[in-house]
Amino acid sequence: MPLESALVWTPVALSADLPAASVIPARLADAALAVWRAQDGTVSAVADRCPHRGMRLSHGFVRGEALSCIYHGWRYGKSGRCLAIPAHPALTPPETIRVATYRAAERDGIVWVTASQEAGAVPAHDGFLGLRSVTVAASPARLAASLGGTLDGSVIDGTIGGVTARLLLASSGEEGVLLVHLLIASGAADAGKIAASRALEGLRRQAETATITGEAA
Ligand code: FES
Repeated sequence: MPLESALVWTPVALSADLPAASVIPARLADAALAVWRAQDGTVSAVADRCPHRGMRLSHGFVRGEALSCIYHGWRYGKSGRCLAIPAHPALTPPETIRVATYRAAERDGIVWVTASQEAGAVPAHDGFLGLRSVTVAASPARLAASLGGTLDGSVIDGTIGGVTARLLLASSGEEGVLLVHLLIASGAADAGKIAASRALEGLRRQAETATITGEAA
């Protein structure tokens, strides 16, 4: 799976990091997104730019089933359409006022987004559970080498903190920096989760140090 394509399902966040009625910034290749979860649990993804004056919608807030811009309070529904303009409470906003939307889905505790209407099934990672996400200033090959794992496209399989683990890689939006989602075997005990989470910090340091010192990947 290419890291820089907006046309494939891309893991942008862990479900646990997007509670009900919240919004977070995310990246899909070159695009800045606002990914939000309505009160009813539905996840949506939109361009991170308010059509009114360009404020980042990821700085906004969610009330019920709508995402509001922090600047002048324009409210957007799951379809991207503007639902209300507080300065003109009697006005029904024209249908043409809308923010660009992306397909969003959840599977195995991961939030996936794509710009393609043709993208097939959301990737499955059965038997794994999302634990945490970090950014790592290293290449996929360097990260795989530091883990002693196997790199296949944007997935690294290996063991971390003594736990069977899978790393899902995505673009962070910053050149040379990966967004890394750590998944661990879903049956792992709490002690294993803690060990894996700590080991991820060590892995990050190791991969970044190797990048700086130019060790062979
Ligand atoms: S910039 Fe978003 S409502 Fe004005």
